[in-house]
Amino acid sequence: MTTTHKIKLATANDVELLALLGRVTFRESHGNYIEDKTNLNEYLDTSFSFENTQKQINDSNNVYFIIYKNNFPVGYSKLVLNATSPFIPNKRSCRLERIYVLDEFISQKFGIDLLNKTIEKAQELNFEVIWLSVYIKNTKAINFYLKNNFEEVGSISFKISKQGYENPILAKKL
Ligand SMILES: CC(C)(COP(=O)(O)OP(=O)(O)OC[C@H]1O[C@@H](n2cnc3c(N)ncnc32)[C@H](O)[C@@H]1OP(=O)(O)O)[C@@H](O)C(=O)NCCC(=O)NCCS
Repeated sequence: MTTTHKIKLATANDVELLALLGRVTFRESHGNYIEDKTNLNEYLDTSFSFENTQKQINDSNNVYFIIYKNNFPVGYSKLVLNATSPFIPNKRSCRLERIYVLDEFISQKFGIDLLNKTIEKAQELNFEVIWLSVYIKNTKAINFYLKNNFEEVGSISFKISKQGYENPILAKKL
């Protein structure tokens, strides 16, 4: 059977799917890094609740894409428009806040297709720079971004409950 990749701009009808994909992919990819599982569960409950996901998708400053393999959803990205960073002054910038593929489907080029689609959207909207933050121990994602011409411009501490996690900030000119 030939494999097809299809990418769809998400709508308010996709809230449940995005909440589920968001929660599962975050736990799969970051769960092991977070030692205190209470912190992890609190973060998952807050960030990927139905209500929060609904609020996020109804915010016109957020753009979500969902990628499908043979019509089955396997990943998503979230672009935040007009997101500034102190490391990127005086530029029209947007933020790739999320790009997540289900573990089982990683390394099958869904990530690249999602990234390209999200970048295309940012270019269409005339942004000058796209930036993101990534956990320093997430070498797979960091290598993926570096291969796609992102460069490190700074670093922040990302808080999950009370614990801080060092996150480099990477950016790419559009
Ligand atoms: C980061 C992520 C979205 C990338 O998606 P992916 O499915 O792994 O990536 P792809 O299959 O599209 O591309 C990766 C492969 O192509 C290669 N590649 C990526 N970009 C490339 C480029 N521009 N040119 C050549 N090769 C490239 C990579 O070396 C990699 O090869 P490998 O899988 O053999 O190591 C995915 O790994 C993921 O969801 N990770 C877990 C969640 C996560 O950490 N998200 C990021 C949070 S900041």
